[in-house]
Amino acid sequence: MLIDQTLAGRTILLVITGGIAAYKTPDLVRRMRERGARVRVIMTRGATGFITPLTLGAVSGEPVFTELWDRDVEQDIGHIRLAREADMVLVAPATADFMAKMAHGLADDLASTVMLATTAPVMMAPAMNPKMWQHPATRRNLETLRGDGVMIIGPEIGEMAETGESGAGRMSEPMDIAMAVEAFFAPDRSAGPLAGRHVLITAGPTHEPIDPVRYIANRSSGKQGYALAGAAYAAGARVTLISGPTGLDAPTGVDRVSVQTANDMLTATQKALPADVAIFAAAVADWRVAAASSEKLKKNGSGERPALTLTENPDILKTIATGSNRPARIMGFAAETQDIEKHGRDKLTRKGADYIVANNVTPPEGEIVGGVMGGDANMITLITADGAEPWPTMSKTDVAARLIARLAHDLNA
Ligand code: PMT
Repeated sequence: MLIDQTLAGRTILLVITGGIAAYKTPDLVRRMRERGARVRVIMTRGATGFITPLTLGAVSGEPVFTELWDRDVEQDIGHIRLAREADMVLVAPATADFMAKMAHGLADDLASTVMLATTAPVMMAPAMNPKMWQHPATRRNLETLRGDGVMIIGPEIGEMAETGESGAGRMSEPMDIAMAVEAFFAPDRSAGPLAGRHVLITAGPTHEPIDPVRYIANRSSGKQGYALAGAAYAAGARVTLISGPTGLDAPTGVDRVSVQTANDMLTATQKALPADVAIFAAAVADWRVAAASSEKLKKNGSGERPALTLTENPDILKTIATGSNRPARIMGFAAETQDIEKHGRDKLTRKGADYIVANNVTPPEGEIVGGVMGGDANMITLITADGAEPWPTMSKTDVAARLIARLAHDLNA
């Protein structure tokens, strides 16, 4: 059965403490990994009495960490890095003892030190004897932890594995815990600021054929456009991503239409209308070969070079912005290497956009490739009729999230 990769890109740090329910954790690791998560495991000394690090290492596919002063851990990973690199810390099973330590901020082993060092959200799946669960000290600690923002799943009412007693104290089933983790990361799209809206995004390069084996292209990777598509989807929109050739997977939930040339991209964009918002992040080739050869161009030994005559491609952004079916908000990009703001302003009026996201695509000094095109970061100036806002350098994902938030705000104003 194909399982949705709802935890793809997430790193879950699983802290296993010393309770009999530790025997269920290989299943928990498996459930999270099959949803796409990377699972790193820390075990307390007590946990290793119930299940071996070897087993957890095998099911997680990662080294398992047990000691605060493990030389390899300190040198290669370090508890601070383990804490910081997690998108969530999940404690399962969480014993009464471990909860008490956490409620009081004790840090005398790797697991408890990581708990104090992390800024990631924390979820705990308590598991203990029903009497321990009901004890006033545990109740106080539980309230303290809840007050600290710790999410608690379970425990369930049932029979205790070790004593046969029944009552509340049994760790929630691995599937239920995995689903709680999943639900935490799944935004409620129906309440998103773009719920009910259609967002159309162009991304990536175009390939303009010279002959059946050669083409004119550019260095756009599609990362900025794809990040925008993901952010728009997360904000609740229906998203159509019209993409030139890239090596990227379409973000979950996004409808991707794959194209090659500028002409194809224009046709697909027009077909995808109507839309509430259109964002033109694609690096569309301005020119194409007027008459691409249907046969491979050959050297004939005479030294004669083929003459390529170029003709201008349609301007997709301008066509959509000035057409009868114009989306309410149009955001264009401007890839510049000099006078960034000036050229951005010029494109705003010339192309009829509401926003221009101007970015400097000059490669790093001394290089001919790299920088914004193909890179993971961007530094933009957002240009509107009201002025220009320079933004600091941030990841393309953050740029996308903020641009989408701005569009949603303006659209809903
Ligand atoms: O893909 P990445 O590696 O993540 O890099 C991101 C990026 C640098 C490609 C992106 O941030 C960006 O700047 N995209 C626009 C690139 C571009 O072609 O800019 P331009 O200044 O040439 O075009 C201005 C605007 O008109 C753009 O919105 C472009 O999509 C649009 N255009 C251009 C030509 C054309 N024929 N049709 C268009 O729609």
